[in-house]
Amino acid sequence: MFGKISQLFQSRPKLLDPIDLSVLRCDVHSHFLPGIDDGAPDMEASLALIRSIQEFGYSKVITTPHVMSDYYRNTPEIILGKLDDVREALEKEGVNVTIEAAAEYYLDAEFMDLIKAKNLLTFGDNYVLFELPFISEPPNLKNIIFELQLAGYKPVLAHPERYSFFHMSIERYEEFIENDVILQLNMNSLTGHYSPEVQRISETLIERDMIRMVGSDCHHLGHIELMNHARKTPALHRLLGEGKLLNKGL
Ligand SMILES: [Fe+2]
Repeated sequence: MFGKISQLFQSRPKLLDPIDLSVLRCDVHSHFLPGIDDGAPDMEASLALIRSIQEFGYSKVITTPHVMSDYYRNTPEIILGKLDDVREALEKEGVNVTIEAAAEYYLDAEFMDLIKAKNLLTFGDNYVLFELPFISEPPNLKNIIFELQLAGYKPVLAHPERYSFFHMSIERYEEFIENDVILQLNMNSLTGHYSPEVQRISETLIERDMIRMVGSDCHHLGHIELMNHARKTPALHRLLGEGKLLNKGL
């Protein structure tokens, strides 16, 4: 029995020195605006999270509050109003980080309406971050991606490694790439935080050179601690070392 347990520990990849995230420059997925989703509850928490991100080497964050019709009815006005508040507080505190805001759109009926109205918050080169339900693949997924692109948006799928309904088929991930959907990995997926399976798929996506954006998806200080661990994983070192991520140009 003890032999098996020790084998388990031996099979874990060796951790490396924590990588300086200034090579990424910019984080593309987080929940730092105070009190409008399940991220930072107030300004104090927002500032603490942004300071922590800066200590890892980031000089810019594109923060992405949830937009989800059943839970977080955030409009561009609400999000940009909170962004102004955070910018003011950062300036007052002398925190030298550039902050922009977009959103993490949940694929629901209202998302379709927002696409048609061309009322989405974007970042960089007209990128739109969107997420899927975790239970099952939405039947209209391909149609929504098509509508997004028809409206001139560039879709970025948030944490593709976290949807278990894709885990059995790498072809589904290839299909996204063939259809010009950018895959955004959560760096904390590499720690095993979500599940060992999510970690395994994340490593496979990196090995197959399928990831073009990496994000923290940071909601709270617990995620910051996990990022400290993620920074030591050989998979993140490999991903950043390959130099193909779009973060730096955002
Ligand atoms: Fe998120």
